[in-house]
Amino acid sequence: MDFYDKDLVSIRDLSREDIEYILDLSKQMVPYALGEKVHRALDGRILGNLFFEPSTRTKLSFESAAHRLGCDVIDVSEMSMTSIAKGETLADTIRMVDAYCDVIVLRHPYEGAARLAADVSINPVINAGDGAGSHPTQMLLDLFTMKEAKGSLDGLNVTLLGDLKYGRTVHTLAQALTMFGVNLTLVAPESLQMPDDIVGRLKEKGCLKKQTDNIEDVISDSDVLYVTRIQRERFPDPAEYQKVADTYRIDNNLLRSARDDMIIMHPLPRVNEIATEVDSTPHARYFQQAFNGVPVRMAILCAILGGEMQ
Ligand code: CP
Repeated sequence: MDFYDKDLVSIRDLSREDIEYILDLSKQMVPYALGEKVHRALDGRILGNLFFEPSTRTKLSFESAAHRLGCDVIDVSEMSMTSIAKGETLADTIRMVDAYCDVIVLRHPYEGAARLAADVSINPVINAGDGAGSHPTQMLLDLFTMKEAKGSLDGLNVTLLGDLKYGRTVHTLAQALTMFGVNLTLVAPESLQMPDDIVGRLKEKGCLKKQTDNIEDVISDSDVLYVTRIQRERFPDPAEYQKVADTYRIDNNLLRSARDDMIIMHPLPRVNEIATEVDSTPHARYFQQAFNGVPVRMAILCAILGGEMQ
């Protein structure tokens, strides 16, 4: 697709060629994201950053990406600080913010909120996570991280571990990986396995290698181990969360069975699922992954706002 002036709401908005375009542009952005080069491709533009759920990485990396390109940012971090607290609808709030900026980045607790925002906004809307739905910019930075580490995505053995039911990052990532013929292994407690509709799509594409609850059985076959947090905030019943909290913990003992070049990714934040001793091993890629949010979001903003990098 031509990204110019378009929304980025879900994986359904993207083809393999679109993803490859953003990954290539992201690579060009790295020296600018590091501050080694300066380019004000989006000088005079304004980004509206609306985060109605907590965020460290997505919110700040969008801000950093915008500033690195000379784009101004206006932001809201809490619904209680907007007129939503007085009863204004999300649709009217979006119409207002739309009038004050050139692109809206929205994180919202409800699945479908970004699609609603895109429907009422004239300017493009970027989904920064909607409930247990989609997180397409995270998916793009995840693919960028894998490609940088492995050289190519095609045919990789990727293991997704943890909360595959509520984790929006893995929902989006699993579907994107099918475009690259990746072999996916899904590791989760039975109650937190990937939703059936996504599993069905993985099977249709011939990308589902295995579903299990045992990481020890599959770690030695993995090129990439993608770990996720059990999403406590999405459990309707806290007692159900307690049953599965701390099910998995990646530590150096477990990693003895892993390939030397296996990388560990995590969208972060982590709780207990990766021991801090893993951080200093060559497997750990999650902090690099979080940095990669800057060049990838720079590429997305440039593509959508039409910033020229010459
Ligand atoms: N990965 C991610 O979405 O992190 P934040 O919730 O901190 O934005």
